[in-house]
Amino acid sequence: MLKSPLSLGATIGILGDGQLGRMLSQAASRLGFKVVIFGPDKESPAAQVSLASKVAAYTDEAVLARLAESCDVITFEFENVPASSLDYLTGKGAVVAPSSKALRITQDRVLEKSFARDHGIGTVDFYPVDSLDDLYAALRQSGLPALLKTRREGYDGKGQVWIRSLDEAPAAYDSLNGRPSILEAKASFTREISVVAARGWDGQVKTFPIGENHHVGGILSTTLAPANVSPAVSAEAHDIAKAVLEGLDYVGVLAVELFVLDGDALLLNEIAPRVHNSGHWTQDGCWCDQFEQHIRAVAGWPLGDTSARCTIEMTNLLGADILAWPDLSAEPASRLYVYGKDDPRPGRKMGHINRIKSV
Ligand SMILES: Nc1ncnc2c1ncn2[C@@H]1O[C@H](COP(=O)(O)OP(=O)(O)O)[C@@H](O)[C@H]1O
Ligand SMILES: [Mg+2]
Repeated sequence: MLKSPLSLGATIGILGDGQLGRMLSQAASRLGFKVVIFGPDKESPAAQVSLASKVAAYTDEAVLARLAESCDVITFEFENVPASSLDYLTGKGAVVAPSSKALRITQDRVLEKSFARDHGIGTVDFYPVDSLDDLYAALRQSGLPALLKTRREGYDGKGQVWIRSLDEAPAAYDSLNGRPSILEAKASFTREISVVAARGWDGQVKTFPIGENHHVGGILSTTLAPANVSPAVSAEAHDIAKAVLEGLDYVGVLAVELFVLDGDALLLNEIAPRVHNSGHWTQDGCWCDQFEQHIRAVAGWPLGDTSARCTIEMTNLLGADILAWPDLSAEPASRLYVYGKDDPRPGRKMGHINRIKSV
């Protein structure tokens, strides 16, 4: 628990050193905070723009203890940080947000969907799978096609395999290497949307306008926001985000990915306990963006104004897309964000561009 708002010049620690940490760090420094990055890479996207970095494994207790000593608040940008590392930091007297409880639930697709259901939020039907027998039993209930996913550590569509017939079950099961899994019924969605929202230490909640997301090959490609959804869909999505924030007793920014079904019912797909790719549009579309909002929330500052200033289309620059930077940087009514990564491997998130569609 934070006893009073962080003073100007206070130090914020961030576990995780990727582009989300980079943009959080930039937002924090704009508000006068100092940032220490904790992550495995020396010249990471986040370390490049921060006051200091500690290069260590997330489980390195000696380095975690030094982080706890040097930071006024510690947060994270990566949902696969071990929850036990957050507990260790708290045990050393650090103020940590979001909590390890929120991280534990959202790290595991079965716990996450069970949490949603317990709070009256719809999800696809799902079945924990720990053996091939479990998988056959689950497929008899889910119907086909169905999607087998690892319970933990999936991202950008990795650790997922569609099963279209019972014959495909053994190979699908083997492809996940016996890891604890979840079988999900197929959601016949018409659109995918997400809502990014924040909650402060005092329980205040603010939600950003809805984004509509398009994925290609399991990876987010574009977000258009504010999305052209009905007031009823928007209100329900915001209510879901609020229920999730309150149910997790959450402090900071999170994103809730939702499927919109025919007839406009919403199902929760997943919760990201951090700033999210589908919220990058807020950097140019809102008065206070998701990165500043997260810093404000964990620092105990008033939450910023989330209203939209214009409509933005955010496009991810994956792999070699970034090599078009001379043209992208010459586009009017757009802003280019580059993450400082050397190797433009296929599918790797290298940057994004926010294009203003209408004001
Ligand atoms: N049960 C499902 N039914 C239909 N499509 C799905 C289902 N689960 C995931 N997808 C599709 O795959 C994408 C990635 O899945 P998601 O669970 O969000 O994993 P990740 O952690 O990789 O983002 C989703 O945005 C959606 O397009
Ligand atoms: Mg997802």
